[in-house]
Parts: sequence; structure tokens; C-alpha cells
Amino acid sequence: MPQDKTELPPKIPTHVGIIMDGNGRWAIARGLPRMAGHRAGTENLRRVIEACIDFGIRYLTIYAFSTENWGRPQEEVQGLLRIFENVIDRELQQLYDMGVQLRHIGRLDGLKPSFQKKVLQAVEFTKKNDRLILNIAFNYGGRDEIICAIQRMIEDGVRPPEVTDELVNKYLFTAGVPDPDLIIRTSGELRVSNFLLWQGAYSEWYFSSTYWPDFDRQELLKALFEYSHRDRRYGLTPTTP
Ligand code: FPP
Repeated sequence: MPQDKTELPPKIPTHVGIIMDGNGRWAIARGLPRMAGHRAGTENLRRVIEACIDFGIRYLTIYAFSTENWGRPQEEVQGLLRIFENVIDRELQQLYDMGVQLRHIGRLDGLKPSFQKKVLQAVEFTKKNDRLILNIAFNYGGRDEIICAIQRMIEDGVRPPEVTDELVNKYLFTAGVPDPDLIIRTSGELRVSNFLLWQGAYSEWYFSSTYWPDFDRQELLKALFEYSHRDRRYGLTPTTP
């Protein structure tokens, strides 16, 4: 339950995905370098993780670095890699104490070996926690994930009739994680941007014009209230006449 006795919506999503967009514009609007926006975004992430735990959300998947982000200026790419390393170095114990289980989704290969090792150690260290499963999508792309799944199915000799929804789920980076109920994108952009393409087939979307560093607990609560009034039909007819 929230410590501040916030009134919660009647229906809380099990799994929330977030495209944390708008860090750059947040910084530019303040005359700051883009990296200041990513740092402010990281501070905000900490607050949102706490809020998710308070609100009883079980799975949170955040889009931290896409397979396309490698094309950004080197300084920004290196800065984002450093932020991820710093979060692990400085905040892993605190995340552990909060009951967070850290997982990585995306391609680890392509990242430097010491980075890979750090991520794998963090995943191992927190694997018994279950208060909040935090999937960090880093070097992640939805299409790349599906390609990777197909490649591994072929390697395993899977025969065409054996390819089912369930089997594909098992080959995705998110194996074992329920599909996201709600996906939030901040900053006013109305795009999917290669995030959880398979898993988001029936997710409810919530778009906020707020830049990610300012998307606080109250904004999250607003998204949750809106979600709780959605009638999820999965291609069927309405549940209420
Ligand atoms: C999109 O904003 C944001 C990103 C590409 C990076 C998000 C990363 C963080 C919030 C840091 C937390 C990271 C980890 C690994 C824990 P943008 O830069 O595209 O913003 P813009 O559209 O305004 O330019």
C-alpha cells in the first residue's frame, strides 16, 4: 500500500511498460546538455520504481536503450552506457533491499565483456526477489527480439507445426513474463518505436505529453486511473452491454 495513503484505482495492471521519452527535450528546454536530461530521467526512474512497488505493480519494463540508439552521437551513447553501469554499481544493493529483481532484455553480446559480466551478476544477485520484476530493455529492439527467437528456434530444430504462441513466448527475451497490460509513452510522441512488438499485441497504451524526468508518481497514478476504466476486449465484444 502507498505510504502516503494515496487512493488507488480499482484495477492495477500486473505489468507496465514504459517508453521513457523526452529526456533530451527536457534538458534543452533548460539550456542544459542532453546528458543532464538522461541523468534527471534516471533520478525519476528511481521514484517511479518506488511508486510501482507502492501501487502493487509486479512487473515493470523500461526502454532504456534501443538497438537504434547506437546511431546517436558517441558521447551520448557512451553516457547512456555509463549510466547503466553506475546504476548497477551504486544502486544495486538499494534495489535489492526494495525487493527488486533485475532482468535484462535485449542483446547482451555487442556490449563490452565487463559490462555483460556486470549485468549478469546483477541479475544473479537479485534473482530471488519478487516484489517488483524490473526488466531493463537495453540494446533492445522488438524486431531484433523476434529475429533472435526465430534463429534460436531453427537452431533447436523446431518443426513448423510446433510454432505456437506459447512456444514463441518461450523464445523471447521476456520468457516467463506476462504480457504488458499497460504501456506508457511520455513526451507527447505517439509511436511504438520497436518496443515489445509481440508482447504488446493487446496492451492498453497511455500517452502523456510530460517529459520523462517530470513524469512523477501523480502522473503515473493518472495513467493507472485511466487504465482502470478501459474495457479490454482482446478482439471480443464489450463485456458490459
Ligand atoms: C529517450 O529520450 C530516452 C532514452 C533514449 C534513454 C532513457 C534512459 C534513461 C532514463 C536512463 C535510465 C537508464 C538505465 C539504464 C537504468 P530522448 O533522449 O530520445 O529524448 P528526446 O526525444 O527529447 O530527445
